[in-house]
Amino acid sequence: MSLPSRRPLCRRPLCRSASSPSSPSCPSCSSQPCAATNASPYSTDQRPSARIGPGARPGTPSQALLFGDAALLAVDHGAVAGLLDDAGAASGALRGRVLIDCTNAVGPGFLLTTGEGPGAARTVAAATGARVVKAFNHSAASVWALDPPVFADGPLAVPLCGDDEAALALVRTLVRDLGCIPLDAGGLDRADQLEAMTAFLIGLWHTGQDPRPMLPPFAAVAGTDRSGLREA
Ligand SMILES: NC(=O)c1ccc[n+]([C@@H]2O[C@H](COP(=O)([O-])OP(=O)(O)OC[C@H]3O[C@@H](n4cnc5c(N)ncnc54)[C@H](OP(=O)(O)O)[C@@H]3O)[C@@H](O)[C@H]2O)c1
Repeated sequence: MSLPSRRPLCRRPLCRSASSPSSPSCPSCSSQPCAATNASPYSTDQRPSARIGPGARPGTPSQALLFGDAALLAVDHGAVAGLLDDAGAASGALRGRVLIDCTNAVGPGFLLTTGEGPGAARTVAAATGARVVKAFNHSAASVWALDPPVFADGPLAVPLCGDDEAALALVRTLVRDLGCIPLDAGGLDRADQLEAMTAFLIGLWHTGQDPRPMLPPFAAVAGTDRSGLREA
């Protein structure tokens, strides 16, 4: 299967925006030289599909988006709109699909590039009509690679935000299969908060600060008057 043609991206860390093929510099960080490329870095036996094992096969991003019961969007946020376009989102090709969005739209200063919103997951839902679940964005790839991601105080909890119960049930199963605990965190409207929380965590992690001690044990909160924490 031939490799996908795709829009080249700026290779500069934290930029990665779509770059004009005819331009020697990136339109987003024009003062910086842009080493945009759309060539595959993989030889056949190095392809991720070969490393994953039997049952996995290479395909275009559009094919991947339509393959199986669910698709995980795990590319740079700046590439998502182009991939959805290529897959025919505008003509409804992804309507009703279960799309798991783990992207983090985090830019310089660890601020959300989606600004005041809507956030990444809601934008995907609006562009596709897919049943979007925000999940797996809040922790680093090195953690997802653990088998299982279990620490001193138990399995990692994975917050899920979505509006479709069947899609959420499927993603809960995937979370449990990883050895983690699904945490129902509300509808897709709360995905913006999950994205903002993750940007906040990334900022702390990248500046060498451990956010774990900022969370008191649940019992310490649950055992007290929580009137100040109630929903409005
Ligand atoms: N890394 C983490 O710890 C982590 C944790 C949670 C969530 N996330 C989020 O997950 C997403 C992926 O993160 P990552 O660290 O894996 O990023 P990455 O290292 O930039 O990898 C992204 C992957 O997507 C591919 N890709 C990029 N643009 C593409 C396009 N236009 N068409 C097809 N494929 C494209 C890349 O292929 P090439 O290598 O060929 O460019 C690469 O395989 C991001 O949104 C990130 O915020 C990352």
